[in-house]
Amino acid sequence: MTASNHSHAEVVIVGTGHGGAQAAIALRQHGFEVSILMIGRDDAPPYERPPLSKEYLAGDKGFERIMIRPEKFWAEKDIALRLGAAVSAIDPMRHTLTLSDGSHVTYGKLIWSGGGDPRRLPVPGAVLPGVFYVRDKSDADAMMAALAAGARRAVVIGGGYIGLEATAVLRKLGCDVVLVETLPRLLARVAGEELSSFYAGEHRRQGVDVRLSTGVQAVLGEAEGRVTGVRLSTGEEVACDMVIVGIGVVPAVAPLIAAGAVGSNGVDVDFCCRTTLDDVYAIGDCAAHANDFADGAVIRLESVQNAHDMAATVARAIMGDKQPYHALPWFWSNQYDLKLQTAGLSLGFDQTVVRGDPETRKFTVVYLKGGVPIAFDCVGTMKDYVQARKLLESGCGQIDPALLADPDVALKELV
Ligand code: NAI
Repeated sequence: MTASNHSHAEVVIVGTGHGGAQAAIALRQHGFEVSILMIGRDDAPPYERPPLSKEYLAGDKGFERIMIRPEKFWAEKDIALRLGAAVSAIDPMRHTLTLSDGSHVTYGKLIWSGGGDPRRLPVPGAVLPGVFYVRDKSDADAMMAALAAGARRAVVIGGGYIGLEATAVLRKLGCDVVLVETLPRLLARVAGEELSSFYAGEHRRQGVDVRLSTGVQAVLGEAEGRVTGVRLSTGEEVACDMVIVGIGVVPAVAPLIAAGAVGSNGVDVDFCCRTTLDDVYAIGDCAAHANDFADGAVIRLESVQNAHDMAATVARAIMGDKQPYHALPWFWSNQYDLKLQTAGLSLGFDQTVVRGDPETRKFTVVYLKGGVPIAFDCVGTMKDYVQARKLLESGCGQIDPALLADPDVALKELV
């Protein structure tokens, strides 16, 4: 679709990731027949992001297989796409967006699903060619091109999901990897000590040089450009020909906040994803909301689940059905042959119980708060995961930790 200087849609969706795409799909599924326009910075039609640090990066899945819908779907459903276009400003009084190409779009309702931008590495040399982030297809494509051109020694900065999944793929492709994490353990933002040490052990077993409690002073490069190494906080210089940075996400909400929407960590939304601006909703990674599975604490959730379920909430709300957002958080991560599935949020846990033996590479970590299970990390224990979801959704009370620790007691018996 070509950019006209001024256009209008009854529903304008900003962001073509999981949240944005799913909101458009849900509106059409509900039979909502008004004009829908999706605006996305990405040049590519809507695609899934999780494979970018997994199967797509490994070359196991091509772009066709990670598209959220086949390209023709959007036209068939009369959902207009404006790709490669960023929103630079919002006039909430006039219900008007300004795009980076200077054009304007007016909206009846606006759904902001802007996601987040990778946090940039704040050290000298961080902009050298050969430094990669993993957020968009173009980022993964650039990394794949570097690998195809012969890059074999990588420094991965950040021991969160991005860093660990990228590391696993790079090892599979035969690269040497040094993994650098500032905190004393991996996955510290999302998991407890047991899971952190299990994954550190796994990566080491796979030949990764894992450096914990270590930062980065500088990225080093040749006079005319390319990366040649990284200087660690210890002063040691590690030679490499590519650097992958996964040090978190900054919510992409600047135009909303500049327009007066309330928010300090992302943008604040109410129980049906309304921001404080009239007719403006926000969903997904950037939406700070009171989460039922975090005792009502206001949080942002960076996950596919949250994007999908908020998209459903907002589609219903726009059609007049104001059911509050209430969805069990879940996540997954694939590293090597290991599949981690998480149900619930471990935020504020005061006790953990391990079901099964991590040495067998099949076990579950249960997180409890005041004796009540609040989250489960399931490594290769699909049955536990399925039953844990039921247990958490049922709003279980206190459960004897000895029963939780016994893998012979099925979790469903504890519901
Ligand atoms: P993250 O916030 O999960 O992890 C970033 C890690 O980098 C933290 O452990 C942090 O301590 C470390 N770090 C920060 N600054 C550093 C520095 N200067 N040097 C070394 N380490 C540093 O963010 P990540 O991994 O970048 O992921 C981005 C987003 O993508 C998150 O929302 C994540 O949940 C999502 N994602 C989810 C996946 C999944 O659910 N399987 C897979 C991949 C990404």
